[in-house]
Amino acid sequence: MKHRLIIDCDPGQDDAIMLLMALAWPEKLELLGVCAVAGNVPLALTQRNTRMICELAGRADLPVFAGCEAPLQRELHTAEHVHGSSGLDGLALWEPALPLQEQHAVNFLIETLLDAEPESITLVPTGPLTNIAMALQKEPAITRGIRNIVLMGGAMREAGNITPSAEFNIYVDPHAAQTVLTCGRPLVVAGLDVTHQVPVPRAWLQTLQNRGDAVAEAVAAMLTYYNRFDTEKYGSEGAPLHDPCTIAWLLEPQLFTGRDCHIAVETESALTLGHTAVDFWQVTSQTANAHWLHAVDAGGFFHLLDRSLKRYAI
Ligand code: RIB
Ligand code: CA
Repeated sequence: MKHRLIIDCDPGQDDAIMLLMALAWPEKLELLGVCAVAGNVPLALTQRNTRMICELAGRADLPVFAGCEAPLQRELHTAEHVHGSSGLDGLALWEPALPLQEQHAVNFLIETLLDAEPESITLVPTGPLTNIAMALQKEPAITRGIRNIVLMGGAMREAGNITPSAEFNIYVDPHAAQTVLTCGRPLVVAGLDVTHQVPVPRAWLQTLQNRGDAVAEAVAAMLTYYNRFDTEKYGSEGAPLHDPCTIAWLLEPQLFTGRDCHIAVETESALTLGHTAVDFWQVTSQTANAHWLHAVDAGGFFHLLDRSLKRYAI
């Protein structure tokens, strides 16, 4: 059965790979629209980057929407130190012909979900959850149309990557994360505990550089840049491919191991703002509100990613 998706992202090189993975399987994933949110870089760049990657994927037909340019309550924190000033450093940038839709992403989410069959649409947020939360707050009835939400965010055993206790997407907008975590729809959460298990293998990256097709070349260029910061920070072989874990789970869930857990988020403490408290051992009486992914078959993940990218070379 086809998944009917709305992706909400903040490209970012890993968001870009996630989009390319998603757009490689139209027979399995029907994309209703792509929303951009402020996160890794400001909204003006994330919306342009989203349009560039959709164009690179040959999907100039896709409706792309710009959403919120700042978190619900906090000021925007960005991550140019990781992704570069453009958000897609490494890639030779161009001005995409693919147009930006007039409609605000939040209104697109509300309109589409209200019109949808019950429990028929999967939301895939891979940036701060501002757009999703704003739609839920403006029109709570949209939950009827949501089948599930498969998001990248949070950390449990892994230390934070933007503060000692918080993962970036949740840290940027913890109030939005709280709205999503309490919305009552099925959640699948890919946090740092699982995404740090898929650092880009150097040998695989080298194979990309020799393929000769535009998508492989672009991915190699983006990942070569994206690798530099995290390899130094973590001493790992490559940078973790955070956002593609969401699409990989939708395509091949058997690659992942997860557990139903209650997840709460810190929205007050300056010290631990954005921390995700994952009740992995069920030490509280709180009912699980999410399926927390905590392990992945990394070889299988990269085999899936490789097959996805090779579909553009045919
Ligand atoms: O912490 C990793 C997350 O923050 C990823 O989604 C990355 O793109 C950044 O948005
Ligand atoms: Ca992201």
